[in-house]
Amino acid sequence: MTETDVPGPTGLPLLGNTLGWARDPLAFHEQLADYGRVARYEALGQERYLLTDPEDIERVLTDTETFPKHEGSTDQLSEIVGSGLLTSEGELWERQRGAIQPAFYMDHIKRYADVMVDRTAATADRFTHGETVDVHEELTQTTLEILLDCMFGADVDFEDRGLYDIVRTLQTPLEPDNQPITLFAPDWLPVPMLRRAERARGELRETVTDILEQRRESDADRTDLLSMLLGSDTAMADEQVRDEMLTFLIAGHETTALALTYTLDLLSRNPEAERRLHAELDETLSGRPTIEDVFAFEYTEAVVKESMRLYPPAYEIRREPSEPVQFGDHTVPEGSLLLLPVWVLHRDERFWDAPEQFRPARWLDADSDRPEFAYFPFGGGPRRCIGRQFAMTEAQLVLATLLSEWRFEREYEGMELAPAVTLKPATDVEMTLRRRGEASRQAPATSRSNRR
Ligand code: HEM
Repeated sequence: MTETDVPGPTGLPLLGNTLGWARDPLAFHEQLADYGRVARYEALGQERYLLTDPEDIERVLTDTETFPKHEGSTDQLSEIVGSGLLTSEGELWERQRGAIQPAFYMDHIKRYADVMVDRTAATADRFTHGETVDVHEELTQTTLEILLDCMFGADVDFEDRGLYDIVRTLQTPLEPDNQPITLFAPDWLPVPMLRRAERARGELRETVTDILEQRRESDADRTDLLSMLLGSDTAMADEQVRDEMLTFLIAGHETTALALTYTLDLLSRNPEAERRLHAELDETLSGRPTIEDVFAFEYTEAVVKESMRLYPPAYEIRREPSEPVQFGDHTVPEGSLLLLPVWVLHRDERFWDAPEQFRPARWLDADSDRPEFAYFPFGGGPRRCIGRQFAMTEAQLVLATLLSEWRFEREYEGMELAPAVTLKPATDVEMTLRRRGEASRQAPATSRSNRR
């Protein structure tokens, strides 16, 4: 390992700080913040540097040349999605980002509002009063249906083409429990899960190719994402269109499902916030939620933002300096793993009053002097999430559709987390459904100290 002057905890020979980090990565990073604006540790044989100053974070996210993505981390994703927006660099990334960006302008997102509401209403139609459901599971399926519909159009029969199963299989290597195998199994070892994911990737590529061919033969006027990519001024090779579609499938639904899952959980244990949200919905909606309602929402948006503050689905962002870089008095070496801990900044007392508390109203105060990069659930700079407006619109429409009719109750035992590629709940998130007006509520139990 490189000689460095950056402070950090002492580690064991060979293992470094792997054990402390693996036990609870979120708490480990929170403790590391005490070392100052940059702290160093070693885990899994990697030299890691953690930044906790919003200005340093802004610098890293803005300067994509000095701070490209961390190669070791992107490799894992590239195996699944090839070289789409999330994993490409340099000229390819720049060209692709320019070509795809218009598809995510608000004008286009508006057209997806109906799909978002329709698909959520179909999920809610299956609910019965008093039933207990795993909301994480329900929301993952619903957000996947929404995304597929927005990407390819409703006339593609996703079920028939086995797309739901394919996407799920593709994601299994990224599940928290499977991470050790995915990260450490040597290439020659025939791991069934990885083989299945590889097959699913092939199937998905074939399916997208097939849809692409059908699309070229038809001259119908379409508004789905795929048509927009095909119609963009930059001619995109089929292979590239496929990788971008795979990227959206991996990046574009599970993150939103997580944000929604944590929101329902937080509302279930914060009755005052829930009441205020219901009041805004009752006042704003005159029938099914619409995009105009989203523009009118204030508290609903604040609820989503506050939920992503406490439980950011992308809880850390990784970069790799292409040269030695100076942060204050300390130098971070080229090629190391630079961590931007979204989770830590979002709960930092320097920027948030009562950081552990769910207080959506803090977002209604326009005068906050908080630094921009104390809150960055969608990243920042040129590589900021391309789907952020899509996700914010979707989250509010899904919430409005569900909560105008239903309440979600949870026998609260705290939220046990499993941080892997994204921040997942470690267990099912079971909640009991109550049709509004018919609900009987139990007082929420206090949380256990080892849970968050
Ligand atoms: C709540 C939901 C979401 C969260 C929290 C989220 C978070 C993020 C973050 C933090 C990044 C930056 C990663 C980095 O800089 O290393 C990112 C990038 C990206 N996201 Fe999202 N995302 C969400 C929803 C979506 C949706 C709905 C889509 C597409 C439909 C999407 C597509 C992408 C893509 C393609 C990138 C790569 C952009 C680039 O590098 O140019 N995301 N997302």
